[in-house]
Amino acid sequence: MSEDRLIVFDTTLRDGEQSPGASMTRDEKVRIAKALERMRVDVIEAGFPAASEGDFESVQAVAQSVQESTVCGLARALDSDIIKAGEALRGGERTRIHTFIATSPIHMEKKLRMTPDQVVERAVEAVKLARRFTDDVEFSPEDAGRSEPDFLCRVLEAVIDAGAGTVNIPDTVGYNVPEQFGGLIRMLRERIPNADKAVFSVHCHNDLGLAVANSLAAVMNGARQVECTINGLGERAGNAALEEVVMTVRTRQDIFPCTVGIDTTQIVPTSRLVASITGFTVQPNKAIVGANAFAHESGIHQDGVLKSRETYEIMRAEDVGWSANRMVLGKHSGRNAFRSRLRELGIEFSSEEELNEAFARFKALADKKHEIFDEDLQALVTEAGTEAENERVKLVALKVCSETGEIPDARVTLSVDGVERQGRAQGSGVVDASFKAIERIVHSGTELQLYSVNNITSGTDAQGEVTVRLEKGGRIVNGQGADTDIVIASAKAYVNALNKILAPEERAHPQAADV
Ligand code: KIV
Ligand code: ZN
Repeated sequence: MSEDRLIVFDTTLRDGEQSPGASMTRDEKVRIAKALERMRVDVIEAGFPAASEGDFESVQAVAQSVQESTVCGLARALDSDIIKAGEALRGGERTRIHTFIATSPIHMEKKLRMTPDQVVERAVEAVKLARRFTDDVEFSPEDAGRSEPDFLCRVLEAVIDAGAGTVNIPDTVGYNVPEQFGGLIRMLRERIPNADKAVFSVHCHNDLGLAVANSLAAVMNGARQVECTINGLGERAGNAALEEVVMTVRTRQDIFPCTVGIDTTQIVPTSRLVASITGFTVQPNKAIVGANAFAHESGIHQDGVLKSRETYEIMRAEDVGWSANRMVLGKHSGRNAFRSRLRELGIEFSSEEELNEAFARFKALADKKHEIFDEDLQALVTEAGTEAENERVKLVALKVCSETGEIPDARVTLSVDGVERQGRAQGSGVVDASFKAIERIVHSGTELQLYSVNNITSGTDAQGEVTVRLEKGGRIVNGQGADTDIVIASAKAYVNALNKILAPEERAHPQAADV
């Protein structure tokens, strides 16, 4: 890769998943990874294999499914973590191990209870061990943004000598400001004697809303990898948003000394996919991917844009993938057209049976809705994927009654472990009544944390895509459902979330770990 190419490292599947409530199943992670690969992201951090069996399997599945991007697994600077990461990545086309240990005085003293000498020694051992599994090793001094510069130089020089090809400088707590953070990167590159042997990377959190600004300041000062997430998802206030970093570098080529290799037309579809899977919807005024990002409301602006687009637009909506809502299939489309359009979207079926099921759903949808868009197909596949997994509860039938002056009422039939059961309840609306009726059957003891509805495309015949977030004993899951009837979509989403909660999967938290 040429020196002036900025490496885009996406950590939506790892740091992004650390957003409270943004957990993803293995299959969902594979779908997002395939979308990132289509976008030509250079490195995909797929997870933290030592955190749980589920994380291990997800990293393994992503490593097996992705060929073009490098797939990365996170590991604490512990032999057992590194071995796990190496095992999860085995057989992948291009793989990287990313190992980290904290270097700030507060983290070393209070969290690790290790001396600086011990930290350097552990970091070096970790990098050497990781190199036995892959030639591509990244090291991060966690909380670098609050670490002492002399100590950072010492650790980084040692890990580069030990074989780290990428050294990543995280502003773990989002404390830095652009000028200072840029200065830190410049200082490290100037002072570390073997700095030219490694790519300098940055990983900025958004606690002060400066993650993108800090990342870009670092790029201006020699960083050539930026770690970021789709829609800025991530721990607490999130990470630097991939779409903002990429589009800034691309739009301001007059200023930035590097280029990106991203297919930017995949930005909006990928943003939508991540939003739908995690339930973290995108605010309308969010840069690049928000619904209003290219909408001109004021008359003066509209007039200007009609006369010459450049008067008020610095980017073209279609360049970031806003050309969506294109009719792609309809009622008369056949199985082959269906399969090949999905293939173009990067969706493959593992068996003929899976394809047939999805095609049957497509036909049912096409009966209700004339025009089927890419977004409808994505939703259809999300639904098929979620239903296939560990499905103990199935929605068999739903009947609701809503009338002015009357209390809304719902009757639901579910199949629970193969046995049909009925429930009926009233509620403040038909959705509320349906959820209560489902609970009367399942008695899940969960708490509803989020209920959100989004129209997938426009028009009153559009499918509504519903996300339901449920919590039980600290475990949080998201369920999705899509239908042209939003009450049915809501019930499907609720049942989908219940199935996930009935199939527990443990998750640990990398940065909360003890080493
Ligand atoms: O924020 C952070 O420090 C991290 C590291 C594991 C890179 O996510
Ligand atoms: Zn982080």
